Amino acid sequence: MPSRPEFQLDQAGVKAWLLEQDPVVLRRLWSAADAVRAAHVGDEVHLRGLIEVTSHCRRHCLYCGLRAPSEGLDRYRMNADEMLDSAREASRLGYGSVVLQGGEDPGLTGALIAEVIRAIRRDTRLAITLSLGERSEEDLLAWRKAGADRYLLRFETSDTDLYRRIHPSLPGIPSDRFAQLARMRDMGYEIGTGVMVGIPGQTWDTLASDILRFRAFDMDMIGVGPFLPSPRTPLGGPDAAAFLAPPDHQVPPDELTTLKAVALTRLVCPEANIPSTTALATLDPRQGRELALLRGANVVMPNVTPLRYRVRYEIYPGKACASETAAACQNGLEGRIHALGRRIAKGPGGRNKTQCKDLTACDFHH
Ligand code: 5AD
Repeated sequence: MPSRPEFQLDQAGVKAWLLEQDPVVLRRLWSAADAVRAAHVGDEVHLRGLIEVTSHCRRHCLYCGLRAPSEGLDRYRMNADEMLDSAREASRLGYGSVVLQGGEDPGLTGALIAEVIRAIRRDTRLAITLSLGERSEEDLLAWRKAGADRYLLRFETSDTDLYRRIHPSLPGIPSDRFAQLARMRDMGYEIGTGVMVGIPGQTWDTLASDILRFRAFDMDMIGVGPFLPSPRTPLGGPDAAAFLAPPDHQVPPDELTTLKAVALTRLVCPEANIPSTTALATLDPRQGRELALLRGANVVMPNVTPLRYRVRYEIYPGKACASETAAACQNGLEGRIHALGRRIAKGPGGRNKTQCKDLTACDFHH
């Protein structure tokens, strides 16, 4: 077990780990993260069926391929029956929950989503997570009342200037995702958030602050994946250079840095549900999923969107599992999880505020 000073996870400590390059030293980070994961959330891997319900989006985020100005996209919006069918598929595959995710699409009305939530509740035992962007208080409350359990809204970066640059507000409506997260927590949602690693303009200090922010907000779910440039976007083209921080400060969007961020996230938020992200699997199709599961993650989100839509939900190019059926994707996945000595969880897999079973691992945090 590592000695305590190594794991003093304040701003300087987290930043030092993010900058660490020595693979022998990093082994201590990997094993600490894996031990804390095992002690606090156990060996079960939760599968959440991801349903990409709409590729329409009203926002102009500089990093995202679905941004409103993206041309040449064949946009779609699933109807209520299609969403319910996908949820039933997730249930058949044995998953404990589904995530309805989409662009910020006013065409998906509050009433329509509420109806879908009630139908999924009626027909399945799935926990329901929403990831539909910045929505009105009224919609968020109605969805919670209809039976939604959780909401994912990444804050993307804790640097407010960078956030404003890459995530322009809608006219007259300042974007404040931290405020929305706090409101949703008050409404009784479990809340999830996250950031991209290596977004142009992200410095080592920013990423360290992001990770400490997860702890300060005691987030229930935290997704951390690499930034993958999309040629449809300003940050995926030649203009991106103007956004970069000076070379010594700019975080690279690479696998090793992402894995360090996942491991550190586990150390600062021992009980959180942390997915091994699709973006990481896209960057390293051979072993990205496994490596995250070995270094802190305990959740995988298999895609259950109908294939005809899935290929059209292009946040970034080359998305992992974009062309396999849910069942095929699932086969590969189960084998890979078992090969790591882990089990597939049954049940909804909410955040569990359990007692720590391994006191040595708990010791990192108290
Ligand atoms: N690369 C990686 N992740 C991205 N996201 C959006 N665009 C990209 C990209 N180019 C992430 C954002 C968003 C989530 C749904 O996908 O963090 O919150």
